[in-house]
Amino acid sequence: MEELIQRIEQLKEEKDAVILAHFYVNDEIQAVADYIGDSFYLSKVATTIPQKVICFAGVSFMGESAKILNPEKTVLLPDATADCAMAHMVDVERIQKMREQYDDLCVVCYINSTAQIKEYADVCVTSANALDIVEKLPNRYIYFIPDENLGRYVASKVKDKVFLFNDGYCPIHKEITKERVQKAIEVHPEAKVLVHPECTMDVLELADYIGSTSGIIRYATESKEKEFIIATEKGIFYELCRKNPDKQFYPVYDGQCCEDMKKITLEKIVTCLEQMAPVVEVSDTQRTRANVPLNRMLELGK
Ligand code: 13P
Ligand code: SF4
Repeated sequence: MEELIQRIEQLKEEKDAVILAHFYVNDEIQAVADYIGDSFYLSKVATTIPQKVICFAGVSFMGESAKILNPEKTVLLPDATADCAMAHMVDVERIQKMREQYDDLCVVCYINSTAQIKEYADVCVTSANALDIVEKLPNRYIYFIPDENLGRYVASKVKDKVFLFNDGYCPIHKEITKERVQKAIEVHPEAKVLVHPECTMDVLELADYIGSTSGIIRYATESKEKEFIIATEKGIFYELCRKNPDKQFYPVYDGQCCEDMKKITLEKIVTCLEQMAPVVEVSDTQRTRANVPLNRMLELGK
């Protein structure tokens, strides 16, 4: 492992590259990354770094967003098959039908979506800024795609708008069920329950705190409590434990694993920096169109 890490450091210099990693990737990848964060932080940071090459340790929609926001940079995805199932759970026809039906409609698109879907959106959001951004929108009707759960969570907080939902979901968060969370609470009755808004509403109802991955880490780090049940993907434990060596973190159950995020390995990072491939490609037309909702998110999310 040491050799691989040294080789990555060498290649970063040689290729003028930087490694961005999501909190859900394997521990050793987070350890070697230059920037670790949630989807919002990573898309912001991608627009400020001086290096010519971005190696994205995450899934394809993250690489695409980085490329859309930074067309002049080379964006690499160490495993081109690392994808997000939810990103594909809405189609253009459905969006167009909604636009025909409602005049004052805003298509709010979770960043966990393909570049093709973003082309048809009015604004992008992440789990860290969805509530804040939707509150700022002038429209009465909100079509929230693709994640129904995040959409319903935002709708539960914003009372002066009418929400229309799409039936997309994250398969990993869907498996973090109410029954499993209740069982975890029985085993750890003192623990605070920290939940990602990709979980279903019945799970959110059991939460002491609801937030994005960075929100969960911040909450646990600032809290005086010592024990926490964590209802999101297990990669987050690396940063939680690193920042809070004196606290206990429990998974809801022995799963909570996004296999696509785990496809990123040190070996693949080495190969991808050596070969400068796989490169994330987005056509000029797609980039121009998808850039609009992404930039609006960065503007509104300031
Ligand atoms: P955040 O990074 O916004 O917390 O979202 C989690 C996620 O599912 C990323 O794929
Ligand atoms: Fe997609 Fe869920 Fe994996 Fe996040 S955890 S990348 S939403 S499948």
